[in-house]
Amino acid sequence: VAPLKVGIAGLGTVGAEVIRLIETQARVLAGRSGRGIRVVAVTARSKAKKRGIDLRGFDWAKDPIALATHPEVDCFVELMGGAGDPALSAVDAALGAGKSVVTANKALLAKHGLKLAKAAEKHGGALNFEAAVGAAIPVIKTLREGLAGTGVNRVYGILNGTCNYILTRMEQEGLSFAECLKDAQRLGYAEANPSFDVDGHDTAQKLAILASLAFGTKVAQSAVYVEGISSIAPEDLRAADDLGYRLKLLGVAVRTAKGIEQRVHPTMVPKSSSIAQVMGVTNAVTIDGEGIPPITLVGPGAGGAATASAVVADIADVARGIRANPFGRPIGQLRDTKKAPMERH
Ligand code: HSE
Repeated sequence: VAPLKVGIAGLGTVGAEVIRLIETQARVLAGRSGRGIRVVAVTARSKAKKRGIDLRGFDWAKDPIALATHPEVDCFVELMGGAGDPALSAVDAALGAGKSVVTANKALLAKHGLKLAKAAEKHGGALNFEAAVGAAIPVIKTLREGLAGTGVNRVYGILNGTCNYILTRMEQEGLSFAECLKDAQRLGYAEANPSFDVDGHDTAQKLAILASLAFGTKVAQSAVYVEGISSIAPEDLRAADDLGYRLKLLGVAVRTAKGIEQRVHPTMVPKSSSIAQVMGVTNAVTIDGEGIPPITLVGPGAGGAATASAVVADIADVARGIRANPFGRPIGQLRDTKKAPMERH
């Protein structure tokens, strides 16, 4: 069988790690997929940047669109980030050409996921995005495939590694917010614009994706009420501690009589609860299914290696010929999401 030919747009920490994993895990991946996986072409903003990987064997596409429509590429891997162009038009072009797409881009999916899923449905390519939520934690697959037979009443959790890292270090070491954020940036957890992390938008994007999968609704970031952690001071954490609580930035999507409510805000959780034990860059997602006790998935939610792990798993699914409906059901079956029922500040 011919190998799956992959093109990668964006060669930051994640992109470089994806290339490394495809090489070092080649035998295992071929065994699981029934065929080889080969990176044939790449593109990035800078050709000269030192990345610690050998790019000489790959064709260098002149821009993301050229890579997305590259005649050799079967699977376009988008790791540039950002809700707009160039990611949007490149992913759209790849899907329009009938290719499969793997992306870690939650901002793009939360804003344009429905349109992109439509293009995938129309032209037959896969649109896989396990890495977009909870990095290495297989939460998309869990909701889309593992719980396909179970109605979901609520999905909630800690979805931003940067915020949880900051809150943990502020609480444990009494450090300032700014100091902790700087470390999260240095460790490669934060977004290029870290206000997406600390103001809650990254959590909102991930929650919108999870809610769509959990409830069969059209993904829409604008339906999420959002409040971040940037105004939290060490004193707030100490006050919560005195009362027996810890502060966590939670994303919550819940089925109510009025529709699906989606919200992101700092939340006091009892210190004895399992979510309060989730520290550092770790993410945790709890799914309350109908008729079964809650399921919680916990694991590394950010960072190059954790994100690359999920990207490579998605590529392996494409190689195996697995093509799920991106949001769990045919587009025609997805229902509208109500606007955020809570008032915005
Ligand atoms: N900035 C994100 C986080 C990266 O801190 O969780 C992973 O999506």
